Amino acid sequence: MSQQPHVVGIAGSLRDASYTRLSVERALRAADRSGATTELLDLREFDLPVYDGDADEPGDAAVFTAEVRRADAVVLGTPAYHGSYSGVLKNALDYCGFDEFEDTTVGLLCVAGGSFPTSPLEHLRSVCRALNAWVVPHQAALPRVSSKYEDGELVDEGLAERVDVLGKRVVQYATIEPDPRTVEAVENVGAGD
Ligand SMILES: Cc1cc2nc3c(=O)[nH]c(=O)nc-3n(C[C@H](O)[C@H](O)[C@H](O)COP(=O)(O)O)c2cc1C
Repeated sequence: MSQQPHVVGIAGSLRDASYTRLSVERALRAADRSGATTELLDLREFDLPVYDGDADEPGDAAVFTAEVRRADAVVLGTPAYHGSYSGVLKNALDYCGFDEFEDTTVGLLCVAGGSFPTSPLEHLRSVCRALNAWVVPHQAALPRVSSKYEDGELVDEGLAERVDVLGKRVVQYATIEPDPRTVEAVENVGAGD
């Protein structure tokens, strides 16, 4: 790894005014202040068709996965969709495997229209474990998110602090040496194909 950790953000909403993307961008700014280089991988700008295991690197899959592989840490942001994370994010992650995520530090963030944005974070944590990523314990859950933003700015101080700490933590732990491989990493051979 270079001296300066590289952090990428991925937001699982394609909406132009997505609160998820705004929040991931905020986390990246905090990562930048902590000394990282940062980049948002804006899923609106990548051609990632619904994953088909028979298709050989369709669309921008190769470019996308190369960008993820370059990262020392990844901030994954998702909207709460039916109590879980979004299909847009899952589709992007399905193009990835151990090559992209093994030993990579990950920070998780979820925005929700309602009051309980925690289950999407738990589900994403499981996905990351299957990829043998290293997920920081701190996570950012933004409930009733539309009331927490004004003119594109997160105006709730407590939530802003949570998002900023997430950006800081992924830089702090970007170089952590992970524990021995998890059972999932050994047994989940599909992700390594
Ligand atoms: C298909 C769909 C399912 C949703 N399910 C939930 C949900 O289970 N819980 C919740 O709090 N909000 C739910 N919402 C609201 C979104 O979490 C909320 O609108 C969020 O701001 C969307 O993220 P975005 O602004 O990044 O697009 C749902 C929205 C959609 C479109």
